[in-house]
Amino acid sequence: MSFPHSRLRRLRQSSEMLSLTSETRLSVEDFVYPIFVIHGHGKKIPIEPMPGMYQLSVDMLAEEIKEVTSLGIQSVLLFGIPETKDATGSGGIDTNGVIQVAIREIKSLDPNLIVMTDVCLCDYTDHGHCGIIKGSNIDNDATLPLLQEMAVSHAQNGADVVAPSAMMDGQVGAIRSSLDSAGKKDTVIMGYSSKFASGFYGPFRVAAQSAPQFGNRTSYQADPANVRQAMLEIEQDIEEGADIIMVKPALSYLDVIRAARERFDLPLAAYNVSGEYSMVKAASASDWIEGDRVRDEILTSIKRAGADIIISYHAKEIAAEV
Ligand code: PBG
Repeated sequence: MSFPHSRLRRLRQSSEMLSLTSETRLSVEDFVYPIFVIHGHGKKIPIEPMPGMYQLSVDMLAEEIKEVTSLGIQSVLLFGIPETKDATGSGGIDTNGVIQVAIREIKSLDPNLIVMTDVCLCDYTDHGHCGIIKGSNIDNDATLPLLQEMAVSHAQNGADVVAPSAMMDGQVGAIRSSLDSAGKKDTVIMGYSSKFASGFYGPFRVAAQSAPQFGNRTSYQADPANVRQAMLEIEQDIEEGADIIMVKPALSYLDVIRAARERFDLPLAAYNVSGEYSMVKAASASDWIEGDRVRDEILTSIKRAGADIIISYHAKEIAAEV
């Protein structure tokens, strides 16, 4: 039916009518809140390019977790920044490493909060790459045992979900078999399945002090131009045993989220990454945009594109609002 019988404006006459007919709603259960943990005591260091975000020492987690859970957020994603970094990222697999201690602390504070951990070497290596280096290459196969060991260590210390983000081929399958042999059959794997080589990770690398000291990540992360290749990455993660798949970043990859949603039936996560957050914060600090409005629009678009789970630094703000 066309105009004048049809008037699409009829359903836009009040906020109640708009809300009644809304196709996409954000809810706090959709969100995962990332937390950066550092060594030391009494530390709450602001992350300059990410206003509102901090590096927290383990003893400062109690206050943070109380806030997160009282807002109704059900899961957190942890990143550990070790005191010292080396060529193989050994700080990431130490039972008394920052991430292991943080997992135990959070689980003792609230056993029901879902604890997810990033499984990747770049936070722990002195060269800042996600794998180990042979000559001028990142050695895929030699990196797998280290990722396996890291994932098992996270699971043994209480992580519910391990999230491999190194983009090494075969990482999900390798981790699944090590978890199973270690008796961790129920530990969930959320693959950072289609993770693109993106400029949007800039602020995160300040937060995690993980910028590559030479070169870049284009030999292992996906090419931003490729959607078909992104589907192959996801397909492989599913074949290897991923329980949850992910597209990352989110905002510039809404078409990839939509394509993944139409093609795969597993829960789909999208990572609203650091650069997406920083752009909103910076423009809104200058009053160039209405920050909250733009934030809501971006997050709604990610859900509308098909994401079930949204990992976002805005999670606390959203939880306070919805
Ligand atoms: C680790 C990792 C990165 C992010 C999540 N896990 C950084 C990278 O690949 O350089 C980025 C998250 C963000 O920008 O918010 N590999």
